[in-house]
Amino acid sequence: MVKKKILITGGAGFIGGNFIQYLICKYPAYEIYNLDLLTYAGDLGKHRAFETNDNYTFVKGDIVNRELVMTFFKKEQFDYVVHFAAESHVDRSITDPSVFVRTNVLGTQVLLEAAMQVGISKFVHVSTDEVYGELDFELSTFFTEETSLLPNSPYSASKASSDCLVRAYYKTYGLPMNITRCSNNYGPYQFPEKLIPLTISRVLKDEKIPIYGDGQNIRDWLHVFDHCTAIDLVLHEGVNGEIYNIGGHNEHTNLEVVQTIIKTLGKSEKLIKYVTDRLAHDKRYAIDPTKIERSLGWKPIYTFETGIAQTIQWYVENNTWWDQIISGQYQQYFEKQYLG
Ligand code: NAD
Ligand code: DAU
Repeated sequence: MVKKKILITGGAGFIGGNFIQYLICKYPAYEIYNLDLLTYAGDLGKHRAFETNDNYTFVKGDIVNRELVMTFFKKEQFDYVVHFAAESHVDRSITDPSVFVRTNVLGTQVLLEAAMQVGISKFVHVSTDEVYGELDFELSTFFTEETSLLPNSPYSASKASSDCLVRAYYKTYGLPMNITRCSNNYGPYQFPEKLIPLTISRVLKDEKIPIYGDGQNIRDWLHVFDHCTAIDLVLHEGVNGEIYNIGGHNEHTNLEVVQTIIKTLGKSEKLIKYVTDRLAHDKRYAIDPTKIERSLGWKPIYTFETGIAQTIQWYVENNTWWDQIISGQYQQYFEKQYLG
């Protein structure tokens, strides 16, 4: 098997962590490096099973630290970069946008410069459908790769800015790159500030579930494993300069998602508590994945029903992982966010 050096940024986070696990199983000969600052969202507990693997190296570091990143790239001469590292939570971006610009915009620019410097074979920038803004509740409209960028939150504005920088490095300097824009992910090891793990962990503890507004906002849910298979295809077969939307047509209102979790765990809907709506709360996201399906042959394996059942089961069996997270600093965040 071909030996390749691959850098994963943000591999201690939810999706990057799942992607490393996926790579280790599928490409045992790849040398995998994980560069992560270990912010509140980073956790290495998810890598216990392979942290001593000879082909896996963790480096604690900030992607904004130009000197560190340049030296690291020069030393390791990576073939591929898959860039996940980011501030990723919309609510936190509303409270403090500056760290989002710092990490998501400046950090991406530093990585692009380093990637150019060593002549990387492929830079995959993991972006989001939120850069397109929102769709209305008319279910026949979807985000395509041609949809205009109209981000509404500081988070999505910072991701759209980073997408523009990646594109500019392709156009100006010929950086071999792809941008992926995926819908909402869920699955093992998602930080419990996001809707699905927040709901599961709180239902298991018989605590109230905060639903913003009337709960009718729609998200398009994709199991993280299916996101990983899509990134794998883009990394190895994506046409340079192309953007690929990723989503599996799993649209549900937030209320439906919460009701499904409550029902599966055999609890009462009395746990639902409607709270003040998120500022500039996007109404609906929905991906048209035709391009990645037709050009790269991508197909998700999970339906929302099979994926959510697997995920709930995982959180039930791995309560020590999320329990240790929600009992720490997260508790202060939760109180500030929901109780003012
Ligand atoms: P996450 O918040 O779980 O993880 C982010 C990781 O980045 C953490 O490990 C954190 O420590 C690290 N990080 C943050 N700042 C850093 C810095 N300055 N230097 C180095 N590391 C840093 O995020 P996630 O949900 O896994 O999302 C990963 C990527 O996928 C993000 O770019 C996000 O925009 C994108 N995305 C997420 C979703 C989703 O539903 N979660 C959907 C589509 C796209
Ligand atoms: O679409 C992709 C995006 O999905 C990613 O780019 C982001 O990184 C990721 O965080 C996610 O963004 P959302 O804002 O859609 O995810 P979140 O889990 O925060 O919220 C999902 C929906 O649930 C949203 O409509 C807001 C609502 N919600 C969320 C929380 C945390 C609630 O009603 N109550 C809550 O407490």
